[in-house]
Amino acid sequence: MIKFICGKTNEEASVLAANVMADVIKAKPDAVLGLATGSSPINMYKELIRMCSAGEISFKAVKSVNLDEYVGLTPDHDQSYAYFMNDNLFAHIDIDKANTNLPSGLAADPAAECKRYDAVIESMGGVDIQLLGIGNNGHIGFNEPDTHFPKTTSLVNLTDSTIDANSRFFASRDLVPTKAISMGIGQIMNAKKVLLVAFGTGKAEILEKSFFGPVTPEVPASILQFFKGEVVVCADEAALSVIKEKHPEAL
Ligand code: F6R
Repeated sequence: MIKFICGKTNEEASVLAANVMADVIKAKPDAVLGLATGSSPINMYKELIRMCSAGEISFKAVKSVNLDEYVGLTPDHDQSYAYFMNDNLFAHIDIDKANTNLPSGLAADPAAECKRYDAVIESMGGVDIQLLGIGNNGHIGFNEPDTHFPKTTSLVNLTDSTIDANSRFFASRDLVPTKAISMGIGQIMNAKKVLLVAFGTGKAEILEKSFFGPVTPEVPASILQFFKGEVVVCADEAALSVIKEKHPEAL
């Protein structure tokens, strides 16, 4: 089932998204969270930090697995996803850092690192809620448009469109890593619940294509139409504008 939750702005929708995640943590204090980076979750993380500081939720027993990491960036590089998670969430909440997991982008043997990460995900015994952003090309995690849906963690070549989109965070386009390690689509589909956050008109077309178009690995997020549990899409009016125009009954 896909449920669309619309906020007027990014800030408003992010608070609604934080509530969805907070409800999972309140119901299960040792929940396993699948986490994402990028610009979309930032305001949601701010609200979770506020809730934690206010004593409304605690991450003391929570475990986390992140979706992905760039290959070649050290964890202290300010564009690595390890740095992002620390900076935008972990350093400001009561989570035990030992319970947080990301793939390593520095592994000498990426294939072995993918296997290690598969074992980490397996050892969690199931992700209670998987947070996702969505790429302009429909990627989730760094599962780029392809001829198949990757089942497990893999080494990915980032597409030109993703490198272009992410170059906004780097001093120049040639500094953007061209490879990443990403959790697989099969692992995302195994989560108990999915929370996808998307903001701005730039995401409007791909959201409509993903949730109302054909299910195809050329639009990786389209597989979420087959998700067995609930997919909650928290977005602002701009990101939902094409869906509102073409499928008003869905909102
Ligand atoms: C990040 C990730 C990516 C992003 C996507 C959207 O961990 O897996 O799929 O969610 O690229 O990025 P933003 O939110 O920056 O538009």
